[in-house]
Amino acid sequence: MYSSDEDHFNSLIKKPSVFKNISCLSVNFIPPHLPHREEELRTLAKYFKTIFSESDAPLRKVILTGPTGSGKTTLVKRFGQMLENVLRRQKFLFVYINCRIYKSPYLIISTLVRQLDKAIPPRGYSFEELQSLLIHLLELHSPKIMLVLDEVDYLISRVGNDFLYVLLRISEMTTRQWLSYIFIARNINFLHELDESTRSSFRSNHVSLDKYSESRLRDIIRSRTEMAFYEGAITTGAIDLVADIAGKSGDARYAIELIWGAGQCADDECSPIVYPDNVRTAKALIHPEVRREIILTLSFHQQLVLLSIIRKLKHTKNAYASKGDVVSSYCLICEEYGEEPRKQTQIWSYIKELSKQDIIHTKLSGEGMRGKTTLISIPDVSVEVIEKFLVKAINRQKKMMKEN
Ligand SMILES: Nc1ncnc2c1ncn2[C@@H]1O[C@H](COP(=O)(O)OP(=O)(O)OP(=O)(O)O)[C@@H](O)[C@H]1O
Ligand SMILES: [Mg+2]
Repeated sequence: MYSSDEDHFNSLIKKPSVFKNISCLSVNFIPPHLPHREEELRTLAKYFKTIFSESDAPLRKVILTGPTGSGKTTLVKRFGQMLENVLRRQKFLFVYINCRIYKSPYLIISTLVRQLDKAIPPRGYSFEELQSLLIHLLELHSPKIMLVLDEVDYLISRVGNDFLYVLLRISEMTTRQWLSYIFIARNINFLHELDESTRSSFRSNHVSLDKYSESRLRDIIRSRTEMAFYEGAITTGAIDLVADIAGKSGDARYAIELIWGAGQCADDECSPIVYPDNVRTAKALIHPEVRREIILTLSFHQQLVLLSIIRKLKHTKNAYASKGDVVSSYCLICEEYGEEPRKQTQIWSYIKELSKQDIIHTKLSGEGMRGKTTLISIPDVSVEVIEKFLVKAINRQKKMMKEN
């Protein structure tokens, strides 16, 4: 590093900041206390109490639902931490799986198997062999496992609900109930295709989270800012404004992104205090509709297909793009990135997948158009915002592919 670079780097890291501990605002941080979720934490503990106190307690399965940013993932992860602390001396495993990342039943079962025996290779078994292996390992090690399937509604929409039966059957096939479950979903609709008895057994174990009100969000923001900011570094006005803005959707993730963004703005201005104006600046830059972490879980070609939809919508300024439009736009983008385009059937399956993830909407063309075709749109968000983020993600993936 040249000395001027070094000076710049030094001044950057020594620059005063409003943040005492910025990592407390990261998505992976699990706060030790979750204001306004105390009751739900107690309910979870009540549901699973017998599992840990009685050796032959029956299988327990709980469904947790709630709108986006209502704290489902965080609540369950916090519950897992508490269980791990309490059950430190028992053979207990808390296994958290996000079904958007582990997208198939095979991956889920093999993750469980590898939790029980790290020496087992991740591939090379049929699905049935994996199930038998899992049952064998459960009997052998007799651990108590809490398996959390987050975003399970997404998995079911992809692979159908048979997988839930498979999971429940695994528990029935062991001599004792080693497995208990928490299924997390936005709402309970995904259960409607299950048979009535399974459905009702789920319904009686249902914890539903409401979206946060403005005043509850204010408490949450206060507790998070106390951990993340220096004392006095954020004004009450800024906190109130964040609660007001995020209160409309009740989304705590948006509230936290806003306080993080407002803090960054204050730092950029070298201001030791975060004011409401910093929140306003942050609001213009943060779009809660774009769930960045979902875009990052897409495969490279899914991202290219999404980019081709965005480019087409932008170029034509229409609300919808036809399937044919998207395919031709995709071929151009593949050329731009030096990629061999996938076949039409594959492109179509990517479009369906993006629609299942709610990133795009599809509908059949109606009156006034020749023949029937699928029309594709992007809901509620400026395509520019997604495009910027997506292009960065694609370039990053392309670079990684080149390096490997
Ligand atoms: N009661 C709370 N106290 C402190 N922070 C909270 C609370 N509830 C949610 N959060 C924070 O809000 C953000 C969103 O929460 P979380 O990811 O758990 O929401 P979610 O319901 O799982 O949303 P999604 O449906 O989009 O997955 C996280 O950063 C989390 O730490
Ligand atoms: Mg979640």
